[in-house]
Amino acid sequence: MEVAKLENVTRVYRVGNTETHALRGISLSIENGEFTALVGPSGSGKTTLLQLIGCLDQPTSGRVFINGKDVSKLNRNQRADMRRGTIGFVFQFFALIPTLTAYENIELPLLLIGQSAAQRRERVMELLQAVELTDFAHHRPDQLSGGQQQRVAIARALAPNPSLILADEPTANLDTPNGQQVMETMVRLNQETGVTFVFATHDPRVIRYARRVITLRDGLVAEDTRQVTAEKVPLGILP
Ligand SMILES: Nc1ncnc2c1ncn2[C@@H]1O[C@H](COP(=O)(O)OP(=O)(O)OP(=O)(O)O)[C@@H](O)[C@H]1O
Ligand SMILES: [Mg+2]
Repeated sequence: MEVAKLENVTRVYRVGNTETHALRGISLSIENGEFTALVGPSGSGKTTLLQLIGCLDQPTSGRVFINGKDVSKLNRNQRADMRRGTIGFVFQFFALIPTLTAYENIELPLLLIGQSAAQRRERVMELLQAVELTDFAHHRPDQLSGGQQQRVAIARALAPNPSLILADEPTANLDTPNGQQVMETMVRLNQETGVTFVFATHDPRVIRYARRVITLRDGLVAEDTRQVTAEKVPLGILP
């Protein structure tokens, strides 16, 4: 079953009299359980595509389906309803709430979907363990390293059991060891929980973890390939 399907999707940005054709006709499917990298030069449309798949934005033309439902014509509120519990996001700058602890940041999406205190506690503890941060539960973001903050963000994205996690340059602000640990956490969660990951990146060390690589160029899919991943390569061999 496809988690996401795009049919001939375009996105034109209009700023004043200038039009930018960010996506010029994208058709692709993301299958359940995929671990896919979205690559391509700066300005090729990666972030725009993630925003459309993530129901943060509407296509100019074409159709976007999430779990079989056409989301292309939904208004802002309907899109927010669609996202809640279905799509998790991980951003370049972590986007954690600075005044909340790791525990509370992960708990927040569970509050929004109305889980009971007992359900939340069990789920947050399980997630803290999954991203290896149990000992840091009561640290605020400024008391965590970049890699630890990003792992909190991944746990938060995963909390409501979404169908899909979208990550835009998740390692861009991390050094090599932290970036590697974040990618290994994502690979492991993908394998253990089956949650689908799609992530945009420039970094060849990150691309190596993907099982599928979709290359964008000038708003079009230039290449779409499957590859053997780096996930079985022992630590330290990656460049
Ligand atoms: N909100 C916006 N308003 C106007 N133009 C935009 C907007 N967002 C993106 N663009 C333009 O659309 C094109 C695609 O941008 P996008 O951010 O999707 O590229 P990208 O592949 O994510 O690039 P990068 O690797 O630099 O993050 C670019 O030409 C960009 O300038
Ligand atoms: Mg981008």
